[in-house]
Amino acid sequence: MRVVIVETAQDAAAYGRDLFLAQLKYKPASVLGLATGSTPVALYQALIEAHQTQGVSFAEVTTFNLDEYLGLTGDHPQSYRYFMQENLFNHIDIALSNTHVPDGSAANADVACAEYEQQIVDAGGIDLQLLGVGRNGHIGFNEPSSSLVSRTRVKTLTQETIADNARFFAADEYQPTLSLTMGIGTIMDARRVLLIATGESKAEAMQATVEGPVSATCPASILQMHANAIVVMDEAAAAKLANAEFYRFVETQRVKLATQSVAA
Ligand code: F6R
Repeated sequence: MRVVIVETAQDAAAYGRDLFLAQLKYKPASVLGLATGSTPVALYQALIEAHQTQGVSFAEVTTFNLDEYLGLTGDHPQSYRYFMQENLFNHIDIALSNTHVPDGSAANADVACAEYEQQIVDAGGIDLQLLGVGRNGHIGFNEPSSSLVSRTRVKTLTQETIADNARFFAADEYQPTLSLTMGIGTIMDARRVLLIATGESKAEAMQATVEGPVSATCPASILQMHANAIVVMDEAAAAKLANAEFYRFVETQRVKLATQSVAA
C-alpha cells in the first residue's frame, strides 16, 4: 500500500486529478470506478476543468459507481445517479450509456446486483477505482463486518452512516437505510485503487486502514492486500498515523528515484 500524505484536501484532490489524467492519457478507453460523497467533489471539479480548458476527453471512458440507495430512482436529488450527473457527467463528454450506477429502483435488486457484476466483467474490469472512506472504515457501503470477499449486493447502512448522510436529506424527507453496493471483492478486483481521505473525522479510520490489522471491522484495511493501492490523505486525516514520518520519507525517495531515472 502506498501512503501519500499531502497538506490540504485541495492537494489530495489535485493528486487524484493527476492520477486520473495519467490513466486517461495511458488508456483513453479506461474503465473508471467512481464514488460519491463530499470527498470526490473537488476531484470531479478538477476533471471537469481539465476537460473544459485542456480538452481532456472522456468520450471513450466507461464508469461504474460504487453504490446507490435502494428505493431511490435515478432522478431523485439524493440518489447517487443524480449526484454523478450533477457533479461530473453533465459537464464532460462522456456517453451516458457508458456510465453505470447500481439501479436503486430495480424490481429485483439481487438480480440487478448480479447484472452489475457481469457488466463490470463485460467491460474488461475496472482500471482505476476511486474510494472515499467512512468514519467507521467503510468503503462503498460495505460497513464493518462486511465479508472481505463480497460481491455487489444489498447492504444495510449503519446508524452512524445514516446519521453522517442525513445532512443531504431534508428533515422530513425519506432517507433510505438500505443500499446496493459493489462488494469488497469487487473493489479488490480493480487493477488500481485510489482512496482519498480528508479531515480529522477520518483520522481514526485511516489509522486502522493503514496500520491496523486487516479486518472486516475496518473494511478499508483490506487495501493492505491490494498490490496497487494508493491511499492519499491530508494532514488532518493522517494525524493518528504512528509511522507518518516513514511514509513521507518513502515518498521523498520515490521522487529522488524518478529524478535519477529521468537524468540517467
Ligand atoms: C459513496 C461511498 C462512501 C463514501 C464515504 C465517505 O459512494 O462509497 O463509502 O465514500 O461514506 O463519504 P464522504 O466523502 O462524504 O465523507
